[in-house]
Amino acid sequence: MFDPNRVYFFDTTLRDGEQAAGVNLNVAEKLQIAKQLEKMRVDVIEAGFPAASPGDFNCVQSISRELKKTTVCGLARTKEGDIRAAAQALAPAENARLHVFLATSPIHMEYKLKMSQEEVLAEIRSGVSLARSLMAEVEFSAEDASRSDVEFLIRAFKIAVDSGATILNIPDTVGYAMPEEFLRLCGAIIDGVGAPGNVIYSVHAHNDLGLATANSLAAIRAGVRQVEGTINGMGERGGNSAIEEVVMGLKTRSDFFGLSTSIETKRLYPVSRLVSRLSGVFVPPNKAVVGANAFAHEAGVHQHGVLAKRETYEIMRAEDVGCTPAVMVLGKHSGRHAFKDRLESLGYNLDDIQITRAFESFKKLCDEKKEATDGDIEAIIADEIFSVRPECHYELKDYTVFVGPGLTTATIVLARDGAELKDAATGNGPVDAAYSAVKRIIGLDPKLDSFRIAATSERSNAMGEAQVVLSLNGLRAQGNGASTDVIKASVRAYVNAVNRLYSVAAVKEVKLGNGNGGGAPAGA
Ligand code: KIV
Ligand code: ZN
Repeated sequence: MFDPNRVYFFDTTLRDGEQAAGVNLNVAEKLQIAKQLEKMRVDVIEAGFPAASPGDFNCVQSISRELKKTTVCGLARTKEGDIRAAAQALAPAENARLHVFLATSPIHMEYKLKMSQEEVLAEIRSGVSLARSLMAEVEFSAEDASRSDVEFLIRAFKIAVDSGATILNIPDTVGYAMPEEFLRLCGAIIDGVGAPGNVIYSVHAHNDLGLATANSLAAIRAGVRQVEGTINGMGERGGNSAIEEVVMGLKTRSDFFGLSTSIETKRLYPVSRLVSRLSGVFVPPNKAVVGANAFAHEAGVHQHGVLAKRETYEIMRAEDVGCTPAVMVLGKHSGRHAFKDRLESLGYNLDDIQITRAFESFKKLCDEKKEATDGDIEAIIADEIFSVRPECHYELKDYTVFVGPGLTTATIVLARDGAELKDAATGNGPVDAAYSAVKRIIGLDPKLDSFRIAATSERSNAMGEAQVVLSLNGLRAQGNGASTDVIKASVRAYVNAVNRLYSVAAVKEVKLGNGNGGGAPAGA
């Protein structure tokens, strides 16, 4: 039985969030995020869509094995194969939920499903019943609910309840609803379905019109008690409802909502940084709650007000979302223990081998610059720990760049399978020349979809952290690179993105090219 005075959070960063263009998280990264979401005390984690690929199946299964408190959920269409795959992947979980969905809007039924209303209802009955026969907890989502006929939706949800679903999800799949309208729709469904007290209503809002948070909060006012969303609002198109925004909306305006949540709000900022680093999806500085400027006051009149009384311009405290400067700055005299503690407070849960590797890189960095900021440490982890993987193809060994009056030349040395490969190229700048040399070595010509470089802190001795997104043969992958030398950071990010392209290609069984690398042996 759920508590009607509490809002339950269902995090779908690893399923719907990962559907964002260019995002490909591997099992280790997903596990890292899942463990932090559990620490943040979300109620449910949707870990993937097991029937979608062996990689997704594997992720849901691994997360099911690892999490002890949070419910792990797997998505399935109403098809038997999907439902059985989800049940099998979720089998090791202490607490599991099977999430079945089917579209109910006229446009989806006619053009996508090519099914009549009666056929859709029959499919909901058979899908949810099968799911319920395999799993104690079943959620049903009426995809594109906000563009569905309300009477038909009520029929669909009644059948889902009859067939054993206890969570009824109302998705605004294309981010079309207006808050007032969504509130009325949710209210009409709750009244019309008249489900027993053990049934909880849920919403899943997309952000195409920037209204996902407003719609989720409006739905809560109508009686909905589960909100689905993602960290940083990550997701395809305009993204999903940002969990941190809905959580802080409820907390900041508890006078208005009068509802509790289980969320440990101090974990919101570290989790946001973790997801951004591992996914390569940048958080805009003005992003509500977790953006770099969310608590910064620039205007003199605001600064004056905040100094006199903080609440004049601050409705939330930075420390309540975990956005606090490091109490202790780590430097060359810091030990492994202090380093490990800092990693944990930044939201990383690494094994001993990973900690040792990260600690070595940290010590090397401290030889170059006296202290390491949190940003430096996070950049090291994203580059050294998560970018290097067993299936890694290439490693940057060395590079030189000559910047001439009109032309720049770069020479790159990569290692692969114990062999060194070397080549040189010209370009209109050091990064362009270096990337051309890497392309000559790998014998592939991926498209550079995005390139960003930022300092890990405001200090002049900060590391440069580069993020690169590459695409090739319909696949996309991102890579991170960090170094006190910005050219090196840029080349490492590129090489890491190439390696990740190979991993994605292996999972999706797509050929990238001959993959043998076209570079000449080093010294040739
Ligand atoms: O947006 C959507 O409708 C979904 C469903 C699968 C819940 O992601
Ligand atoms: Zn969605």
